[in-house]
Amino acid sequence: MEKFVINGGKRLFGEVKIQSAKNSVLPLIAASVINDGKTYIENCPKISDVLVMMKIIKEIGGKAYFDKDDLVIDGRGIDKWILPCDLTREIRASVFTVGALISRFGYASTCVPGGCNIGDRPIDIHIEALRGLGAKVIEGDEVIFDGTKGLDGCVTLRFPSVGATENAMMAAARGSGTCVIKNAAKEPEIIDLQKYLNALGAEVQGGGSDTVVVRGKDKIIGREVRIRPIADRIEAGTFAFFTVACGGEIRFLEESFPKYLFLSEIFRNNACKIYVKNGKIEVIKVEERPKGFGKICAMPYPGFPTDLQPQLVAASCFAKGLTVVVDKVFPNRFSFVEQLLKTNADIEVFGNACVVSGGKALTSAETYAGDLRGGAALITAAIATEGKSVVGGVRYIDRGYENIEKKLRNIGADVSRVDF
Ligand code: EPZ
Repeated sequence: MEKFVINGGKRLFGEVKIQSAKNSVLPLIAASVINDGKTYIENCPKISDVLVMMKIIKEIGGKAYFDKDDLVIDGRGIDKWILPCDLTREIRASVFTVGALISRFGYASTCVPGGCNIGDRPIDIHIEALRGLGAKVIEGDEVIFDGTKGLDGCVTLRFPSVGATENAMMAAARGSGTCVIKNAAKEPEIIDLQKYLNALGAEVQGGGSDTVVVRGKDKIIGREVRIRPIADRIEAGTFAFFTVACGGEIRFLEESFPKYLFLSEIFRNNACKIYVKNGKIEVIKVEERPKGFGKICAMPYPGFPTDLQPQLVAASCFAKGLTVVVDKVFPNRFSFVEQLLKTNADIEVFGNACVVSGGKALTSAETYAGDLRGGAALITAAIATEGKSVVGGVRYIDRGYENIEKKLRNIGADVSRVDF
């Protein structure tokens, strides 16, 4: 089993190239099922969740392969609308393919998807949205969707679910109706999906706002579509918290990296200087130990993202003072704390919140990741703590970060991937 062996306590200096956003790439791969042509997703990270989505594309008759850094999906041979349960149970993003299959075939069938162990992950909002737009849904061990009557109308999501917003957009793209999705998720990755669906010939507006309107197009003929997804704000935020914990100065090598990275809001105590040029975050500089971050609440976009909550908790252990982190998106996303306590961290979890009393020295330890971002939190603690630490469960970390150990070594951390 692979583990990271880390000799921690070193400050970080250097440049980091940010990958294309995992949470943009995965729905784009799902959406490419609509296209009976070729889709090129540029600068696509070779992470394990992408590899699973590629397997799903092949299982339903398509082709998926890398051409250097571009992922190529050839949808011309796709002829099945039943998703393979063994693969859908592996990753959450598989459920995004449902909307695309409804668009293409009028039907879709899936098992309830798997995904990181960060609490309950039902698909009721997806089902409510698709039913609300006119699809028939039969729920059982497998969930079968019948959208042959065409999708049309207006739905209001009870929670701005990212996946349900994306699924409804894809399901409505290839049809003759007009679908309005209210209380839609506003994450920036949804704008990439809108761009792609419009490139296929659909008419989608409002992506990134709380109301998305999709005027489907009956005939979306196969096209050759290229898309370069936005940079991964969660990967960038992860490296920012690495730097907060270790100290140092890192520069993001991503010209298209905009400043919507909310860190400027939460680093108000100025221990962590952020340099923004032409509206883009370029440099994170941490010259001294930050003070506690006060109360930070993980919320739907544009709030602080739940996908950085574990990394914030870990970095807060190195800040002098109190940090209170509340997660209103995934209230049970604190299972990584049990592992962090092995390092003598002073953290207490109260339901959907945790209180970190930062500033005392942590001890190196052997910890195990149980999910992707929890794994990033354990790395944060290990690289900032003097001594030799080991982080297991690397397969979870590989789901969303490509070559994280190489990127960390490039900025001065001592991290090796070892097969035990
Ligand atoms: C997407 O997951 C992301 N994954 C998640 O990133 C991210 O944490 C999440 O959005 C929130 O931003 C991908 O894009 C592949 P949701 P998704 O539907 O769509 C509840 C990472 O680490 N809910 O917005 O599954 C749900 O349980 C991953 O990169 C229902 O109750 O998230 C959660 O509490 C983790 N019923 C909340 O809504 C539903 O039908 C938000 O979930 C759907 C969701």
